[in-house]
Amino acid sequence: MNRVRIAVIGCGYWGRKVVRETLEISRATGQIELHSVVESFPRSLAQCQTEFGPGIDYHSDYHDIASDPSVSGVHICTPNGTHFDIASRFLRQGKHVLVEKPLTLKTEEAYELVRLARENDCVLCVGHIHRFNNGVSELRRVLAEGQIGDPHYVELRWTALMNPQLQREVITDLAPHPFDICNYVVNAWPDKVSCKGRGYRTKLNEEVAFITAEHKGGLLAHIELSWLDPNKRREVTIVGSDGVAHLDCSGQKLFLEKNSGKRELPVSPSNTLASEIIHFTDCIRSKQDSTPFSNHSDGILGARVVSLLEASRESMYQERTIQVQLPILPEIPVR
Ligand SMILES: NC(=O)c1ccc[n+]([C@@H]2O[C@H](COP(=O)([O-])OP(=O)(O)OC[C@H]3O[C@@H](n4cnc5c(N)ncnc54)[C@H](O)[C@@H]3O)[C@@H](O)[C@H]2O)c1
Repeated sequence: MNRVRIAVIGCGYWGRKVVRETLEISRATGQIELHSVVESFPRSLAQCQTEFGPGIDYHSDYHDIASDPSVSGVHICTPNGTHFDIASRFLRQGKHVLVEKPLTLKTEEAYELVRLARENDCVLCVGHIHRFNNGVSELRRVLAEGQIGDPHYVELRWTALMNPQLQREVITDLAPHPFDICNYVVNAWPDKVSCKGRGYRTKLNEEVAFITAEHKGGLLAHIELSWLDPNKRREVTIVGSDGVAHLDCSGQKLFLEKNSGKRELPVSPSNTLASEIIHFTDCIRSKQDSTPFSNHSDGILGARVVSLLEASRESMYQERTIQVQLPILPEIPVR
């Protein structure tokens, strides 16, 4: 079997985790090779060389590897504002691309990446890591089986204490996961979004936001985002006509509460990052072999989430509810 050769672009906090995980998968399965690491900040690049050692190509400029025929795909872990330029460069070269969330900052850019991937017959994945969270999958199953009846509303809380951020704001940084999880479990996108947000320590960048997303049929989703709350929460609660399901996404612990009482449902926790990377390389291998596959974290999901992030920010600035219109794209034929 052909080894899929991956380059990791951007080796900061998240990129290092990705490199470690990719190396671990490579050791365990032999199916992936970490071909190269690209990091533009010289001291971080030197630290990577020390930590990850020989056997990997190290570069400071991603253009060096863009046309390297030995690279099959790239995992982009650079700051959000760079995602579009870097991803489009590799897609134009026919490379498969996994972009960390959010796919891009702007909706048009996100759909342009989807278009480029189709035009160049490349896999485009987005780092919506909770698609690979067994707790989230179990919650989806519980809902689909009607175990809590008809869902009335969903509450998603994404909070933690973070140092004041000057280059980032909380909506773009944290909301991709709750928006994506909500879509995955209820199998629908909202058509209206309203949002309030504030910065308290840094007046220019929102550190707290409350988003309400309305779905056809009346389902409401409420998303709380905060960098000011010392309690780190990654929680989803769904209140339905016959009960309540509560998921701690970090611990992958799922509870069901009904008239008969409360019980924990067994979940075997997954290694979400490893599963995301393996899924990306499985998609690449299937595409190379022309075998049918489903991309569970397709770029189109990333583009729809970027639309919702933009709509939330627009709502906050304009102090009104925004109608969301998600472009309808032709279905991608399964190959
Ligand atoms: N899925 C998740 O749960 C999750 C968690 C954390 C971060 N992320 C995402 O990962 C990305 C990186 O976040 P982070 O916290 O690691 O940021 P970071 O600032 O710690 O790391 C980014 C790194 O990219 C490097 N870089 C910047 N421009 C570059 C370029 N053109 N070429 C090569 N390297 C470049 C920087 O020097 C830095 O080392 C963000 O998009 C973030 O949203 C995802």
